[in-house]
Amino acid sequence: MNQILEKLSEIGIVPVVVLNDAKDAKPLAEALIKGGLPCAEVTFRTDAAEESIRIISENYPDMLVGAGTVLTTEQVDRAVAAGAKFIVSPGLNPKVVEYCVNKGIPVTPGTATPSEMEQAMSFGLDVVKFFPAENNGGLSMIKAVAAPYVGLKFMPTGGINATNVRDYLAYDRILCCGGSWMVKGDLIKAGDFAKIEELTREAAAIVKEIRG
Ligand code: 3PG
Repeated sequence: MNQILEKLSEIGIVPVVVLNDAKDAKPLAEALIKGGLPCAEVTFRTDAAEESIRIISENYPDMLVGAGTVLTTEQVDRAVAAGAKFIVSPGLNPKVVEYCVNKGIPVTPGTATPSEMEQAMSFGLDVVKFFPAENNGGLSMIKAVAAPYVGLKFMPTGGINATNVRDYLAYDRILCCGGSWMVKGDLIKAGDFAKIEELTREAAAIVKEIRG
């Protein structure tokens, strides 16, 4: 497996963040690092995403920063130029996936059905995002589809929280879980990075408790 994806597996939980202002990038990165999850998927939903990725990758080289909600190859280029180490999408856009694969950029496209998972596998991927996880049947759905696809690992995202994340992490076909519960927009807006650090520490402790 790709080294970046292995690192995501070690970290266990990927904070999925929406940054409206790049000035929040530094305090956010510090809170995540201090809390024990040195990783972020910065979603390309805001104008501040690209600059935020640049700030994090330049100032916190040990932090694993990726880009989420990537919908076009042009966004892939901008994200990677800014320092994104991995690409995440809500769905499987063949153009985006092929582009990343050809350039050797780790990509986890969103999938929710066996057909989409097979499409991802046909590009040579061994990890897919499962999105939105809870709405699509959660862990029991993943366990059902994991049976035929023996080589495939999953990154469930959507509806995961500090309670249900335990069951996901305990299943060996889960690479890592994505979630926003420790980096909620209201906390960022309020500048409450102490709370973000606290919630991140709790999340990191769950990874340690379940995976050792
Ligand atoms: C998202 O698209 O915002 C992510 O899937 C995060 O989902 P969550 O807010 O349910 O954790």
